[in-house]
Amino acid sequence: MQVIAIAAVAEDRTIGSGQDMLWHLPEDFRRFKAVTMGHTLVFGRRTFEQIGRLPGRSLIVCTRDRSWSAEGVEVAHSVPQAIGMARRAGEQICFIAGGAQIYAQALELCTGLDITEVHLRPAGAARFPEISPERWREVSREPRQGFDFVAYLPVAGPSESTGEG
Ligand SMILES: NC(=O)c1ccc[n+]([C@@H]2O[C@H](COP(=O)([O-])OP(=O)(O)OC[C@H]3O[C@@H](n4cnc5c(N)ncnc54)[C@H](OP(=O)(O)O)[C@@H]3O)[C@@H](O)[C@H]2O)c1
Repeated sequence: MQVIAIAAVAEDRTIGSGQDMLWHLPEDFRRFKAVTMGHTLVFGRRTFEQIGRLPGRSLIVCTRDRSWSAEGVEVAHSVPQAIGMARRAGEQICFIAGGAQIYAQALELCTGLDITEVHLRPAGAARFPEISPERWREVSREPRQGFDFVAYLPVAGPSESTGEG
């Protein structure tokens, strides 16, 4: 199963400011919908309360609150647990869809990153973690007006790059 972090990230890695939307990018919304449709999304509880359920997608919400529930979503009590639930459900792709706390904990578990790089520097406290070039290599970039769609894959580790023998 692929585990892909999907996020819209400003130049200084800002992704959010509480409940406020930082930008309005209809093409990015359309692409997010198309890419994630039919798959599982993992949200932190705060992002879920901001966005809510999304038609056509299974949601797993991470919370530490054992009594928390919401209609139509599954609940996990850690990020690895959420990913394991998606895997056991037979999913092909599990999207890590934020927010900042969840991206930070999931990054090392991801098999790919799907980042909309937004050419803005808005004020906001929530940030995407650093995308280290030692760990991630850019494999595609599609420039648009004011933002780029960028895909990353892991840099092969020593044991993978040396191959067999
Ligand atoms: N630009 C983008 O692409 C994008 C995408 C998504 C979100 N965002 C932005 O991100 C911001 C929200 O991010 P955030 O960091 O404040 O909140 P968040 O990551 O959405 O949710 C945080 C919550 O997740 C739960 N959680 C965190 N770690 C956990 C763990 N190890 N085990 C179980 N539950 C855990 C906790 O819920 P409990 O408190 O219930 O225990 C915690 O309060 C908003 O501004 C939003 O707009 C931006």
